[in-house]
Amino acid sequence: MEAQKFLGPKAKELVERDRKVVSPSYPRGYPFVMDHGKGVYVWDVDGNKFLDFAAGIAVNSTGHSHPAVVKAIQDQAEKFIHISSDFYHENWIELSEYLNRIAPFEEDAVVFATNSGTESMETALKLARYHTGRSQFIAFLGGFHGRTHGSVTLTASKPHYHRGFYPLMNGVTHIPFPDPYRPVLQMNPGEDVGDAVIRYLEESIFAHLLPPQDVAGIIIEPIQGEGGYVVPPAGFFPKLRELCTRYGILLIADEVQSGVGRTGKWWAIENFGVEPDIITTAKGIASGVPFGAMIARKSVTTWKKGSHGNTYGGNPLACAASLETLKLIDGGYLQNAAEVGAYCLEKLTQMQTRHTSIGIVRGIGLMIGIEFVKDRATREPAEKLRDVIVDRAFEKGLLTLGCGGSTIRVSPPLCITKSEIDEGLAILEEAISSAENAG
Ligand SMILES: Cc1ncc(COP(=O)(O)O)c(C=O)c1O
Repeated sequence: MEAQKFLGPKAKELVERDRKVVSPSYPRGYPFVMDHGKGVYVWDVDGNKFLDFAAGIAVNSTGHSHPAVVKAIQDQAEKFIHISSDFYHENWIELSEYLNRIAPFEEDAVVFATNSGTESMETALKLARYHTGRSQFIAFLGGFHGRTHGSVTLTASKPHYHRGFYPLMNGVTHIPFPDPYRPVLQMNPGEDVGDAVIRYLEESIFAHLLPPQDVAGIIIEPIQGEGGYVVPPAGFFPKLRELCTRYGILLIADEVQSGVGRTGKWWAIENFGVEPDIITTAKGIASGVPFGAMIARKSVTTWKKGSHGNTYGGNPLACAASLETLKLIDGGYLQNAAEVGAYCLEKLTQMQTRHTSIGIVRGIGLMIGIEFVKDRATREPAEKLRDVIVDRAFEKGLLTLGCGGSTIRVSPPLCITKSEIDEGLAILEEAISSAENAG
């Protein structure tokens, strides 16, 4: 790995110690060893400063160690750290009320608090089966939903998530995601890629393989995250919603990466004008304290006492951090994500005209993907080039993360300013030029 050269003495020592005792399964890229962070900046243990366009995989929504979030956690820690989900506490109730207010459906929402994205997904799978009495699910190629047994069965972004782990959960059928840049299905005249996916589901899957009456839920990221920050065409979701309603299938939006203000709306699905039945969230919801939720329509939440639970659900530290996070997002970062995100997308679109290796730039709000190609005409993915750019950006002081086959994601904290975007994009462009010139 190129960026290994950049390791400072303290970072080098820690990476060596880590290698001996930390599971080798983590998909680490370059060796950033964190010391501390503030706002959109982070420092490593050797004193190097970086601008953070990754936000801990789209998690540090309010920036690093926002003083209001830190204070909320500190105040709560002094009162009590844990009591278990067998009991009640006010912040948990207030947080659930808040999530009910911002849930992307008119109907009242009921919240199940979790500790991670994957647990939110497992909860959604169980509730969907319980409520509908059906066993089957439909998910999308390129999707990412987590790594525990149920959620990893839904995940279809890379085969290594499944390799060595079969048999997976029973009852999941994958279909192509409507990726306008890389459509898998042939489109009929007048159709877009979204129409082709809906037609495939009806004419190929339901007509030949899977009775829709046995399908409990269709699980989809409104914008694919790990799969490459892929935005579906505008008309796709209304058609998917109509199909779900027609067959009594629950529409389950995985908002773990795309939600909590990242796209300039509370939930990415709101950009497409439809109401899901269940959403799952985690990541940005508590500024980095492990927390998540499954938020379902009240009419869907029909499970009975004792049918599902957990020890840490509604953890007091996480609830305090989450409440403060939601207030900060409401208080300005939501608007900021929309404005600065649009600015960033425009700057990247201009950058695309200067670099033929950029095949496409796409995204909504501060969820933006830059996909690199070997050749714009063939769209052949330039995975190696992307990896070198990520390493070079790191060496020049910018944290980024790859996703999909050859995409770099821009997912900074939602508090980032336009001038910080300019600073980051200047570093990124230097990294792109240097990687292109290297061959
Ligand atoms: C869309 C989506 N769903 C689910 C997950 C799983 O979340 P976690 O890693 O917290 O289990 C992720 C994580 O990247 C995600 O991006």
